Amino acid sequence: MAFDLSKLLRPHIAALKPYSSARDEYTGKEGVFLDANENPLGSITREAFNRYPDPYQMALKTRLSQIKKVPAENMFLGNGSDEAIDLLFRAFCRPGMDNVIILPPTYGMYEVSAGINDTRVVKVPLSTDFQIREDEVLQAVDAHTKIIFICSPNNPSGNKLHRDAIYKILKGFDGLLVVDEAYIDFSDEPSFCEELDRYPNLLVLQTLSKAWGLAALRLGMAYASREIIAILNKIKPPYNVSGLTQQTVLQAMGNMDKLGGMVQDILKQKEKLIKDLGKISRVEKVFPSQSNFLLVKVPDAHKVYQQLIGKKIIVRDRSKVQHCDDCLRITVGTEGENKRMLQALNEVLEAQAND
Ligand SMILES: Cc1ncc(COP(=O)(O)O)c(C=O)c1O
Repeated sequence: MAFDLSKLLRPHIAALKPYSSARDEYTGKEGVFLDANENPLGSITREAFNRYPDPYQMALKTRLSQIKKVPAENMFLGNGSDEAIDLLFRAFCRPGMDNVIILPPTYGMYEVSAGINDTRVVKVPLSTDFQIREDEVLQAVDAHTKIIFICSPNNPSGNKLHRDAIYKILKGFDGLLVVDEAYIDFSDEPSFCEELDRYPNLLVLQTLSKAWGLAALRLGMAYASREIIAILNKIKPPYNVSGLTQQTVLQAMGNMDKLGGMVQDILKQKEKLIKDLGKISRVEKVFPSQSNFLLVKVPDAHKVYQQLIGKKIIVRDRSKVQHCDDCLRITVGTEGENKRMLQALNEVLEAQAND
C-alpha cells in the first residue's frame, strides 16, 4: 500500500503557519534575554524556573535517543503520551468526517480523544482471547479511516498482541498505525521502534509513567518518520514539556540501572501474585500478562470491587468492558501491598461464598 502523508494530513494543518516562540527565533544560549517577558530576578521558589524551557527538549532527546536507539529527529516528546494521542487526532482527523479504528477492550483515551475531536470510532473487538482479528480490521477500513490504534501489551487485558497481525495491518493499511507500547518495559517483546525505517505509516507511543516510575512528571514519547514528527511539533503548544520535567528526566537517565532493577522486582512480584491468586478457589481466571497488572476474573466483580474499596484496597473495575465480564484489573504493588490486597480479596470472596 502506498502511504501518502500529504493525503492523510488535514489541509488546514498543512497550510498552518505555526507559532514562532521566542526560543524558536533566537536559539543561542548566550546573551541578555529580553525577548520572552520572563522575570529577570528569578522565581518565588528556591530553585530558578524563570526561563522558558527548550521547546524541542533537545538535551533530553539526545540522551533518550542513545537509550532507545531512535534518532532524536524521529522523536516527539509530550505532556504524557495522552498529549501525542490528542495531537494525532488534531493533525489527521477532520471532525465529523474521518474515523479511526480501535480494538476493544483497549485503553480508553483513544475513544475519548476521538470524541473530543468529533471523530467517529469504528470498533473491531479483539477475539475473546484478546488477539487482533487482522482481516476484520482491514475490512473495516474505509476511505475516511485515518488512524488504527493498537495497544501491545494491551490495557486492560495485559497480554501482548501477535506481531504478525500487526505487520499485516502495517502492510495493508495506507493510513497511520499507532502501536501504543506503554507497558513494553515489562514485556519480552521487542519494540516496534525497530521497524520505523521500514514502515512510514508506523508511529510508536511509549511513556515514562509506568516502568520508569515518573507518572507525575508527565512525559510521553512518540516515535515516527521525521515528517510525522514535524507535524506534531508544528501543532503542539510551544513549551509542552516543563523545564522541571526536562531536568529531572535528564538526571534520571544517569540512573538507568534502577529501571532494570525495578522492572525485575515488579515482574517477580507479579509471578508471586499469579501463584497466590491461583490458590484462591473463587478466583476464576488470571489472564496472561506481559505488563505490570493482571486481569482477574471473580464472581460478581463489581460488588467485589466495591467491597475491596470498603477495605481501602483500590483496584480497577473492568467488568463492564467488552470481553472483561466480571474482571478486575489489579496493578502489581509492593510485596506488602499485594499481601494486603490478597488478604482483603480472600475475605471478600469467602464472605461471598457464605452468602
Ligand atoms: C496503553 C496506555 N497508553 C497511554 C497511557 C497514558 O500514558 P501517559 O501517562 O504517558 O499519558 C496509558 C496510561 O494508563 C496506557 O495504559
